[in-house]
Amino acid sequence: STTQGFTVAIDGPAASGKGTISKAVAAHFGFAHLDTGLLYRAVGAKVLLGVDALDAARALVPDDLDGDALRTPDVAQEASKVAALPDVRAALVDFQRSFAARAGGAVLDGRDIGTVICPGAQVKLFVIADAVVRARRRFEELSGKGIDTSFEYVLADVQTRDERDMGRADAPLRPAADAVEIDTSSLSIEEAVAQTIAVITAVMGK
Ligand code: DC
Repeated sequence: STTQGFTVAIDGPAASGKGTISKAVAAHFGFAHLDTGLLYRAVGAKVLLGVDALDAARALVPDDLDGDALRTPDVAQEASKVAALPDVRAALVDFQRSFAARAGGAVLDGRDIGTVICPGAQVKLFVIADAVVRARRRFEELSGKGIDTSFEYVLADVQTRDERDMGRADAPLRPAADAVEIDTSSLSIEEAVAQTIAVITAVMGK
């Protein structure tokens, strides 16, 4: 197949829209999708239960990656903290790279997919948006799921994580040199998805 090992790397800060875009793009092309933030969230959730971060990362199984319980701001904060630990990151590399290499194509979204996990990805995108816009979207999403939180709390979560994720020494959040930037601040979901599909289609046509 022409899409054997075809990898789309989508990175960006918290709540930039990369998850929504990734899901839609994977469905459009029939690619598998891995939300790598869930790996760190699953480890963070275990740490909140008293488990050692590295033990949790080494014992992670795909079944741990499910559920709205991982989508809360508190789990997100803990995920960002464990994600700064080089041993934890190292323990999660093989799973992500095997996923990327599967036949039929894959979309991985996260912080370091284009820079560290899949530097050879055929398509790299860096999705950004204004922090207030991101916090408003995430707040509405969480409220819609019945999770009790406030806009201020979500904004603080987003800003604290951005700073930590960009400032860490190991695999910091930053665009790969060859990443295409998409600013979703004033784009609808449909527009952001259409732009992304156009970028991927252009690469596939080469
Ligand atoms: O994408 P997310 O918001 O679900 O990610 C939660 C945290 O996990 C994020 O603040 C930093 C960390 N993370 C990471 O360091 N590297 C990734 N590839 C994905 C997430």
